[in-house]
Amino acid sequence: MSIMSALNPSVRLVRSRTLPSPNKYVLMMSNEYSSRVIDEERAPQMKGQWRESLGLMADAPLDLEIGTGNGYFFAHYSHQNPQRNLLGMELKFKPLIQTIKRSLAFGNTNSWAVRYHASLIKDLFSVGELNNVFIYFPDPWPKKRHFKNRLINLEFLTALHTLQKPGSFLEIKTDHPGYYDWIVERLEPSPYRVIRESRDLHKSEWSNENFQTHFEKLWTSKGLPTHLVRALRD
Ligand SMILES: C[S@@+](CC[C@H](N)C(=O)[O-])C[C@H]1O[C@@H](n2cnc3c(N)ncnc32)[C@H](O)[C@@H]1O
Repeated sequence: MSIMSALNPSVRLVRSRTLPSPNKYVLMMSNEYSSRVIDEERAPQMKGQWRESLGLMADAPLDLEIGTGNGYFFAHYSHQNPQRNLLGMELKFKPLIQTIKRSLAFGNTNSWAVRYHASLIKDLFSVGELNNVFIYFPDPWPKKRHFKNRLINLEFLTALHTLQKPGSFLEIKTDHPGYYDWIVERLEPSPYRVIRESRDLHKSEWSNENFQTHFEKLWTSKGLPTHLVRALRD
């Protein structure tokens, strides 16, 4: 305690009032949603044991969405696929909680959220542990000096490929033509096999089966086409 606050208790009071209060989403993660949200400390301990830890059958499909945002696709997909299981990976606390809250509000019992940095995905899963993976509207980092921050690069694709079960797929959507070209260029030398490619998904043969995410709706309303690539993990 400083001499000032020892002499004058009101100094202490003012200081404690100016401390930032704990973020409510951080508290929700360790309280009401603790059975559905896995934090960054617990997550690496699940490696190779996700199904067992979540109480799933050994051969139950386990899909992953990276960067769930506010979780509209996450809740929809879980609801539409009750026979599959879905993990949602997010960095930020607020979207992480919004994601799991939305899915639980749909009555889904097959979804969980995990707070982790997707570029460190090898920490979390063992070979063949994942089924389908969705990455929708990843941050495009449009400036050249920020390209190094882009999630999708050859190292990431090579790692993810080994973590997926043969026969599963990776699907990516973006509004950003430059990032799309970058992704397709990196898929080319990767072990994936591209099976769907569209620079205007909403006008493509796959438009009927598409569910528009929050960001997709936003960019579509501004007249930007959605780019899609789906690649098979043979
Ligand atoms: C542009 S938003 C898209 C959200 C959602 N997929 C959609 O289409 O509406 C990107 C999301 O990815 C998350 N994100 C960015 N980098 C990430 C990373 N390395 N690992 C996990 N999540 C990440 C962000 O916090 C953000 O919620």
